[in-house]
Amino acid sequence: ATMGACPFRGTRVGGAIGSEPQLDHWWPNRLKVELLHQDPVQANPLSDLDYCQAFAEINYDELKSDIRELLHDSVDWWPCDYGNYGPQMIRMAWHSAGTYRIADGRGGAGGGMQRFAPINSWWDNGNTDKSRRLLWPIKRKYGAKLSWADLMILAGNVALEDMGFQTFGFAGGRIDQWEADSATYWGPEGWTGDEHVGHPNEMVTLDERWEGDPKQEHWDLENPVAATHQALIYVNPEGPGGNGDPMDSAREIRESFARMAMNDEETVALIAGGHAFGKSHGMVDPEKIGPAPEAASMQEMGLGWHNPVGTGNAEYTMTNGIEGSWTSHPTRWDNEYLQNLFTYEWKKTKSPTGALQWTPVDADARKTPDAHIEGKENALMMMTSDIALKEDPIYRKICERFLEDFDYFADAFSRAWYKLTHRDMGPIERYVGPEVPDQLLPWQDPVPPLDHELVNDSDIDGLKQKILSSGLTVSQLVAAAWASASTYRDSDKRGGANGARVRLEPQRSWDMNNPAELQNTLSTLEAIQGAFNDAQSGDKRISMADLIVLAGCAGVEKAARDSGVDVNVPFVAGRRDTTQELTDEPSFEWLQPVVDGFRNYRNDEVTYKIPPEHLFLDKAHLLKLTAPQWTALAGGLKVLAINYDGSHHGVFTGRPGQLTNDFFCVVTSMDFQWQPQSDDELLFNINDRQTGETKYTATRCDLVFGANAQLRQIAEVYAADDGHARLVNDFVKAWHKVMMLDRFDVPQERADA
Ligand code: HEM
Repeated sequence: ATMGACPFRGTRVGGAIGSEPQLDHWWPNRLKVELLHQDPVQANPLSDLDYCQAFAEINYDELKSDIRELLHDSVDWWPCDYGNYGPQMIRMAWHSAGTYRIADGRGGAGGGMQRFAPINSWWDNGNTDKSRRLLWPIKRKYGAKLSWADLMILAGNVALEDMGFQTFGFAGGRIDQWEADSATYWGPEGWTGDEHVGHPNEMVTLDERWEGDPKQEHWDLENPVAATHQALIYVNPEGPGGNGDPMDSAREIRESFARMAMNDEETVALIAGGHAFGKSHGMVDPEKIGPAPEAASMQEMGLGWHNPVGTGNAEYTMTNGIEGSWTSHPTRWDNEYLQNLFTYEWKKTKSPTGALQWTPVDADARKTPDAHIEGKENALMMMTSDIALKEDPIYRKICERFLEDFDYFADAFSRAWYKLTHRDMGPIERYVGPEVPDQLLPWQDPVPPLDHELVNDSDIDGLKQKILSSGLTVSQLVAAAWASASTYRDSDKRGGANGARVRLEPQRSWDMNNPAELQNTLSTLEAIQGAFNDAQSGDKRISMADLIVLAGCAGVEKAARDSGVDVNVPFVAGRRDTTQELTDEPSFEWLQPVVDGFRNYRNDEVTYKIPPEHLFLDKAHLLKLTAPQWTALAGGLKVLAINYDGSHHGVFTGRPGQLTNDFFCVVTSMDFQWQPQSDDELLFNINDRQTGETKYTATRCDLVFGANAQLRQIAEVYAADDGHARLVNDFVKAWHKVMMLDRFDVPQERADA
């Protein structure tokens, strides 16, 4: 009441910008088209920066030695365990990268998203806020030249090296995002961030994201998530739902790490490697701990989990609730974690806060020094998820090998750590800095370097003529180019036209790509390529990757010309071809979308709780499209008739193959009625309102452009009498954008990433 004059009329202030309820509370199932416009340049104070160039200007040795020094420089507000911040930095880096999931490529270290909700406030990220805040002096010194995303991973690497471990390498090039991500689906559990506990044992009902029985091998986790519970990075250390069963925990770990794209050996290497360092913290009743950062009070200044007991840190630290260390040398790289796990028998016990953990049966077992109190010794600790590595027969074999051959283990951990922390960066063209390893690895989806001269403008004109007189139709040309380029996903920067993997397994056999038709198109293009390359006296050649895209461009130009608009579709040569041997097939399977509304493809074998148009929006998001770009491409491709099965759904035109605005004229017209073909409302008849005659058929992914309020406004723009030329122009721009999404070899594209 004494806050001064109220800026509103009257004395009661109820709400302000963003106060709830908002749209999503009233209509939780609405199609959130605005998610396409997240993290806009307006949110980015460094939008004028070429980050990779800036990073390259850093004195890298000085940066690493600054971090090394900081690791040993204990501060009062958060004194380091064992005089070394290394272990907590490794955990922060691991948690930054470990949100990655291969199903949609989202999560991961790439955008530095641990800085934002919900990730910054997940139970599992307890006290990583301190680790990031400790790094502020480094961030401050290097400023715009060093992203948080890079710094978090580099701090983990330097910590590992400082404690005696040889890392495989480091690449900079992660570009920070500047706002919370509200698009990524993290799982079904209700969880309110302001609950100060948020402990997985209390909040989780297993049957929401899991299907099946935890005691059975077939225990299926909902896609695309990789973590077993909301607010965890991976699994509950106390076993599923805190049940303390190591074999159940092993099954969870296997599933969760596989979703993170890790095999059994990589999984064991990571856990055994990581838990060579540091400790778990569980000295204070979680009920006493304050709210997570996103819900903490103003005076916490962005930190969370305020601990009111004792000094609130050091020997009073409370993070996960489990207490203790795995080894007697928590700041030294050695093989003691596995030695302890296998030398001793372990029995269940409780931490001071009541968390379930394991301790050696043998009272004479090795002890570990207290992290803060001189002269105090503590019993060793293992988590249920650690015991899992000993009990699961497959993990056990791997552990035994690692125990016998420490060098082999060290190599496996260094490679797995490198993969974990770099996998979501995409092609190696995005890697910068002096520590980028020479060796190419299968998970980097390698494409051999350019080894020939590129085509010039007159070659391009000649090739376009050859393509257009080859007998291939506009639909065939456009479909092949679209199949090639549209696998790109901006989440982990995989896929795209470079490499021409559309010629290789598994892509060439995907139903979505209409394999027989695609093969026919590719064979014709290969003949054109062969003739062109054979005719060259010098070093000039065209790759299939380029020719497939060029064929699409020629097709779009013809389609536009035939509709009465002359347009030049840009083409930038330089794509290279890769080989089947350089293609990890199982890993590429994940790039096949379950819904591609551009081609009216929907995988019937997968059951989804959400309607196809939501998955279509997801696809548009992975292609970095804006709402107008999505709309122009969807309606434009429809009249070019590239449906994967040759069906006519959405082909609302009497002149397929011409780039008209007919699609938009139909979705906005009241001359029609739209009638579901069956109760599932997946297919529709478009009937003449007067005669009742069925003129067209459509899917949800077609009709959404007339049904959804935001998309309809855009459809109206293209349907208007002045909309056709605009559509052609917008279509061409969006087309070119999709063709260039993976061109990190072209400086501007790299900068836009
Ligand atoms: C600490 C669980 C895998 C590195 C911890 C803590 C838990 C945990 C509960 C204690 C947090 C605290 O109270 O401070 C797990 C589980 C894993 C797993 C359940 C998988 C099954 C990994 C991996 C790495 C790693 C893959 C790195 C490669 C670390 C490090 C610490 C730690 C370095 C010590 C942090 C410190 O000393 O402050 N882990 N972890 N962990 N973890 Fe893991």
